[in-house]
Amino acid sequence: MVVANTLVWISLLSFAAAIPFPRRVLHASRSSAPHGFTSLGAAPANQSIKLRFALASNNVTGLEKALLDVSTPSSANYGNHLTKDEVNAFLAPSDEALIAVQNWLSSNNVTAVSTGAGDWLTATVSISKANDLLGANYETFLHADSGKSYARTLSVTLPAQVAAHIDDVHPSTTFNSPVSSKPVLSVPQARKGGNGNSGSNAASCANTVTPTCLQTLYGIPTTPATQSSNNIAVAGFIDQFAQQADLQSFLGQFRTDLSSSTTFALQTLDGGKNTQGAADAGDEALDIQYTVGVATNVPVTFVSVGEKTQDGDLGGFLDIVNFLTAETNVPPVMTTSYGEDESDISPALAFKLCNAYMGMGARGTSVLFASGDGGVEGGSAQRCTTFQVAFPADCPYLTAVGSVHGTSPETASTFSSGGFSNYFGIPDYQADAVATYLQTLGTTNQGLFNTSGRGYPDVAAQACRRGENVQIVSGGKTQGVDGTSCSSPIFASVIALINDELITNGKSTLGFLNPFLYSNAAALNDVTTGSNTGCGTNGFPAKTGWDPVTGLGTPNFAALKAAAGL
Ligand SMILES: *[C@@H]1O[C@H](CO)[C@@H](O)[C@H](O)[C@H]1NC(C)=O
Ligand SMILES: *[C@@H]1O[C@H](CO)[C@@H](O)[C@H](O)[C@H]1NC(C)=O
Ligand SMILES: *[C@@H]1O[C@H](CO)[C@@H](O)[C@H](O)[C@H]1NC(C)=O
Ligand SMILES: *[C@@H]1O[C@H](CO)[C@@H](O)[C@H](O)[C@H]1NC(C)=O
Repeated sequence: MVVANTLVWISLLSFAAAIPFPRRVLHASRSSAPHGFTSLGAAPANQSIKLRFALASNNVTGLEKALLDVSTPSSANYGNHLTKDEVNAFLAPSDEALIAVQNWLSSNNVTAVSTGAGDWLTATVSISKANDLLGANYETFLHADSGKSYARTLSVTLPAQVAAHIDDVHPSTTFNSPVSSKPVLSVPQARKGGNGNSGSNAASCANTVTPTCLQTLYGIPTTPATQSSNNIAVAGFIDQFAQQADLQSFLGQFRTDLSSSTTFALQTLDGGKNTQGAADAGDEALDIQYTVGVATNVPVTFVSVGEKTQDGDLGGFLDIVNFLTAETNVPPVMTTSYGEDESDISPALAFKLCNAYMGMGARGTSVLFASGDGGVEGGSAQRCTTFQVAFPADCPYLTAVGSVHGTSPETASTFSSGGFSNYFGIPDYQADAVATYLQTLGTTNQGLFNTSGRGYPDVAAQACRRGENVQIVSGGKTQGVDGTSCSSPIFASVIALINDELITNGKSTLGFLNPFLYSNAAALNDVTTGSNTGCGTNGFPAKTGWDPVTGLGTPNFAALKAAAGL
């Protein structure tokens, strides 16, 4: 396990400081590949690999302080979001770090490109060069579930003169899923060969979920937003294309009050596409339909990340956030319905990515992630000796959205991932909420989760259980799906509509939401029934107040608006 090696790494480093260069220190190692991966032998020496060097940022503590200062409603600086340059000054590496790492790379004839806030260097090199640089032994590993293979190493060492400046190198010992792992739980009926749901625009969300019933249930306005500077960015990865024709059909059925030609903008990265053949339709349609269809007239941008990273969604997460870090303007809201198991990602990489979300929050972006659809079991039942945690949903500088179904009352969905991080500690904004929950929980699930970890999700929205489905149109067919993938775009739409009114009133947008949400818990509909099952347990039960299944609860638009001072 990678965590344990941090200690080894620190002790070797202090030892190394006493002796002359060139001395190598262990950066990370693991005894074997995780379950589901098999080595096919040494990776071909001349195969190329894109290495990403995560350089230590010079002032993460300062950035966290600045983030909380502009995101905590009681602070005098609430809403005074930072500029790109202000945030990137915190995230950038020190000059010393940059020079040391660049000298090391150039003395090895490696040319690296700087990205993000200058805190990432990327270089495409041969496997033999990567082995030399990193004291590594890259092997080709086959991922059984997808049939895809990629190069990883079980160990990395770094020269002492750069070790302290490099947080992590990826890909190396992190065995993330090589394919995008969008957490949509159920296979749409139409694709199982069964009946496509005929579609129903019911007034209540009790049986089927549509924009109309969500408007009633959460008090979401139907009147069009007016501010063109507003935006929701919807992240999409490999083979999940958002179809104009499906959106048109969806709006024609479920938002008859809107022009069916209402559409979205496209941003592509890494050779991303958004092909429009009916056979290219992915469930991603859902995120676009539940933003364009709920956040009436708010501009929506579909960010499609292509296969060039060859690194599943983790490479995509890094590329999207590094792209935005370098942009002058960031979207006020970004929603992503993908995730991985925390234990698959090295702590250093998890912290680095989470710090980038911290930067986006400080600049005023509400970053939302679906909490995941594996209940307390995550992506792999094999690892059920303890509950699994979803990443990036466990990052304390973003807002994780879980799922509920039914209306009287709204009840936690069994698949709604939630729990407590093993990497991130409990942030101050939720300390009381988590303590109260743990006290009420008593000895339930004792030993299966980390009582000092950040609790997630933060909030929830409708997603529906099997057979009581969120209506979408995919490949021309109206059908039902479910999963926390439904919930994050719905919550994102609520925030975007509040932002529209804030902008109209000359106020700043909500930005990083959690301090605002936890200090206005009454503005959410508390969910107190249901639980997230898995690992042969009933998981965590929803309870009065915050819980690690439905967070603080589901949106009450009028109350959230009032809490925002509107
Ligand atoms: C890599 O080396 C193998 C064996 O020598 C050779 O067949 C192959 O064409 C080489 N590939 C590249 C991309 O140079
Ligand atoms: C980090 O940022 C904080 C907050 O702006 C500042 O007070 C502190 O001096 C900075 N520390 C370093 C080492 O730059
Ligand atoms: C770098 O390139 C130079 C010139 O081709 C060569 O002499 C040197 O050995 C190379 N160094 C490394 C570490 O590959
Ligand atoms: C539990 O969480 C804390 C806080 O993030 C962390 O420091 C600790 O290592 C975790 N324990 C385990 C066993 O993972």
